[in-house]
Amino acid sequence: MATVLGSVRAFFAQSAFAIDRENAGDVVARERLLDRAMGEGRFRKSSEKLRRGRLPAEGLALVARDGDGHVIGTVRLWNVEAGVDASGNPVPALLLGPLAVDPDHEGKGIGGALMRAAITEAASRGHGAVLLVGDAPYYERFGFFAGKTAHLVMPGPFERHRFLALELKDGWLEGAAGMLVASGRRLGHELRKAA
Ligand SMILES: CC(C)(COP(=O)(O)OP(=O)(O)OC[C@H]1O[C@@H](n2cnc3c(N)ncnc32)[C@H](O)[C@@H]1OP(=O)(O)O)[C@@H](O)C(=O)NCCC(=O)NCCS
Repeated sequence: MATVLGSVRAFFAQSAFAIDRENAGDVVARERLLDRAMGEGRFRKSSEKLRRGRLPAEGLALVARDGDGHVIGTVRLWNVEAGVDASGNPVPALLLGPLAVDPDHEGKGIGGALMRAAITEAASRGHGAVLLVGDAPYYERFGFFAGKTAHLVMPGPFERHRFLALELKDGWLEGAAGMLVASGRRLGHELRKAA
């Protein structure tokens, strides 16, 4: 991770932001940012059903910070099972979202930097595919397309042309069919362990 973030920092050395791993002190700022960028409706999304009560995938909660260290962007990825393969075995994958950038900082490449860092980190951790529900004209530039999710469904209403995936390993989603199911670490379990 250090290598990935180091290279992202170096690449954007001329910009006033850096990509970093989210820490416990970022939670309030991240939630404020999400309220501002996405509004209350964010809690009604079908993706939320796959996130509620879960922790993000290990090492895959990232933030963008301005020069003073304030959170100005966020992206998190979540462990899911993307249906089952032809043999009936669950297909492990990641669900990406929400991705959001502070409205005051849009259009500076922060969303793109968060996406590239998240994809690189997910690949380096050995994940096979990333799925998301979002605007295809934005996410296609990172390699996300609807074709890979043709036989998969979200656990609630979704628009099929916005249900996209990127394979990190060739053919990972080949034959994957069925409903996405949350498979990440449960939030309560972690809190109990910490107590
Ligand atoms: C979408 C979002 C994350 C982009 O962040 P950003 O830091 O402004 O993105 P970048 O600077 O990396 O990229 C900007 C480019 O993406 C394009 N873009 C932004 N949102 C887009 C969208 N919904 N569809 C198509 N293109 C989009 C911009 O027009 C710009 O294009 P250009 O490079 O040709 O000028 C940000 O606008 C945001 O937080 N929006 C509100 C929350 C949201 O919609 N999240 C994504 C859910 S689909």
